Amino acid sequence: MNSSEQLQVPPSIILHEMLGGYGKSQLIFVAAKLGLADHLASGTQNAYELAKVVKADPDAFYRFLRALATLGLVEEIEPQHFILTPVGAYLQTQTPDSLHTLVRWAEEVEMKMWGYLEQCVRTGQSAFEHAYGIGMFEYFQRNPDKETLFSTAMTSFVSRNRAGIVGAYPFEPFLKIVDVGGGQGSLMTEILRANPETTGVVFDVPSVVEEAKRYLESVQLTGRCQCVGGDFFKAVPAGGDVYLLVSILHDWDDERCITILKNCRLAMSNQARLLIAEMVIPPGTEPAFAKLFDMAMLVLTSGGRERTEAEFQKLLAEAGFNLAKVIPTTSTVSIIEANPV
Ligand SMILES: C[S@@+](CC[C@H](N)C(=O)[O-])C[C@H]1O[C@@H](n2cnc3c(N)ncnc32)[C@H](O)[C@@H]1O
Repeated sequence: MNSSEQLQVPPSIILHEMLGGYGKSQLIFVAAKLGLADHLASGTQNAYELAKVVKADPDAFYRFLRALATLGLVEEIEPQHFILTPVGAYLQTQTPDSLHTLVRWAEEVEMKMWGYLEQCVRTGQSAFEHAYGIGMFEYFQRNPDKETLFSTAMTSFVSRNRAGIVGAYPFEPFLKIVDVGGGQGSLMTEILRANPETTGVVFDVPSVVEEAKRYLESVQLTGRCQCVGGDFFKAVPAGGDVYLLVSILHDWDDERCITILKNCRLAMSNQARLLIAEMVIPPGTEPAFAKLFDMAMLVLTSGGRERTEAEFQKLLAEAGFNLAKVIPTTSTVSIIEANPV
């Protein structure tokens, strides 16, 4: 809804519609659980026939599909007959860039954590701290299945960022790229594919690095990419020409960001570059997606936050870097290029 349309709609209706956000999430969760997108991938389906396949009550299932059509995930092309829309297609399980695992992560973990928002706002502590007394990454160490769910969800979450990052920055002149906190290695895969002379290092916690090894094997890139396990609060691999920090700094408070940045600086030559890919909160009072997304960081991370350019500049200066430029991409993140001073 744009602002001129909003002016036509009574404010109480706007609020009521916003309030129903939790119901929309549930519709998406159930669509994913029923495997709806996979069932509709082959073409038009009759709601009552499909209800038998997914073991649902026929009338309730038809009403469910009608509601999903209102959200734009499916379309009722003739009475009781539905097709998948381009939006709903992302709920398929086997397609490239599928968001199915992101939906499962949202349902199994994130949605429950948002239930602690009031405590997070009152105390500034994360929902994980309120629920379990530990941070999200410590929770993953105790719950490996959730760590795998998270890293797979991140792989799909960053799918829209990957093309933006690879398209916005000329990686070609650089021989060795180190992706610090590189997750399962999906961004590295895109960079190496687009730049045949380049080699890479995916650095992450040892358990996630095992996932990266499997992923890079599956795309036959192990010959050009090392996978190194470790702790970026202690050290990161030396000798890269470019160091990437993609959706890393927003997970941590300023002090811990400075530790990560200083460890990157220690590993880098004076000629190497640092690229931070994050949302950048625009200056001023205008509403912005990054300001909304910042609440996910409040809820999920211990001290993490989205930041303004001035805030990044300050962190970088404290760690021995000069912010050179901020490069917009076609996705929600920008690339902040920094040079060692
Ligand atoms: C939000 S995810 C971002 C992953 C990847 N850069 C991306 O954009 O998809 C944060 C990553 O930091 C990793 N990480 C967390 N703590 C770490 C640590 N102490 N040392 C190294 N990696 C860590 C996590 O395992 C996870 O892969």
